[in-house]
Amino acid sequence: MTRVFSGIQPTGEIHLGNYLGALRNWQKMQHECDAVYCIVDLHALTVPQDPKELHAATLRMAQLLLATGIDPEKATMFVQSHVREHTEGGWLMETTVSFGELRRMTQFKDKSERADFISAGLFTYPALQAADILLHDTEEVPVGEDQKQHIEITRDIAERFNSRYGETFVLPKAVIPKTGARVMDLQNPENKMSKSAESPQGLVKLLEPLKSIEKKFKRAVTDTETEVRYDPAAKPGVSNLLSILAAVTDGDPHELAKGYTQYGPLKTDTAEAVVEAIRPIQARYEELANDPAETARLLGLGADKAREVAARTIARAKKNLGLLEG
Ligand code: TYM
Repeated sequence: MTRVFSGIQPTGEIHLGNYLGALRNWQKMQHECDAVYCIVDLHALTVPQDPKELHAATLRMAQLLLATGIDPEKATMFVQSHVREHTEGGWLMETTVSFGELRRMTQFKDKSERADFISAGLFTYPALQAADILLHDTEEVPVGEDQKQHIEITRDIAERFNSRYGETFVLPKAVIPKTGARVMDLQNPENKMSKSAESPQGLVKLLEPLKSIEKKFKRAVTDTETEVRYDPAAKPGVSNLLSILAAVTDGDPHELAKGYTQYGPLKTDTAEAVVEAIRPIQARYEELANDPAETARLLGLGADKAREVAARTIARAKKNLGLLEG
């Protein structure tokens, strides 16, 4: 079975971009693959966090993943800081990646421009991500478009390590969905939808009231023309709605465009399709939120499974590096 690994940060509100770009695929892939999904709390620490909020957000994220259909009987779901091998692997990756490679990462450039405090961890972030992926002998990484560069650098690190120290890591590749890989902000459709959105109206959160989601779609920015056509460069707002509708209904944005002559019905249909996709997730989440002890138990089981594989890979890497057995 294909080995799959992916991760998500626990902080900030989980949004439609996370769902369509990654989580829907996570859910699908767990049926055909040997899937491992990680809540990357250590990555969240690359920017200052409120401890209480981080604690609550991590549990909440686990419940939300379960609510989107991740089945702990099928997939391994765990919290990054529960498996120490990830931190250890992060160091091995830091010594394999170059300063120049890290400096070219667009995520670092974006985030460091906005940050008051730029931690060293924000800079070495991709090394820890490479460890996450490589420790699990990962073949495929289901992610949104924005993570492509991180998967490419992971491959480069693995190749370099293997050629210096002998065959150690499997080379992973990104799996990016055909539609929904880059969901854009509903108010600023030139920018990707993200937790740090300028206006809350542009961000569709998975756990917000369904009525409010509907309103956000109805107020989505389009353009002054009237033609419905899928053309992301010329018509970013309309194309974003078509992509979202296509992702949710497993359709094709060009085909869907043919069914509309006005923006209004496109907005209404997209809102409805999104609301219907999110409704069951919210209902399951409400149930799970009442039982934090059960969530913690499932995370414990996940960590045990993840540790087994990660420890084996770390041992192999350390041996190949020539580190003395302890
Ligand atoms: P994170 O937490 O920012 O996002 C989680 C997933 O959501 C996708 N995503 C989007 N997809 C489509 N449209 C959008 N607007 C959008 N915004 C976010 C992301 O591509 C991602 O798949 N560095 C990672 C976490 C990570 C990881 C890993 C991922 C740590 N280790 C190992 C894969 C493998 C991140 O910050 O994702």
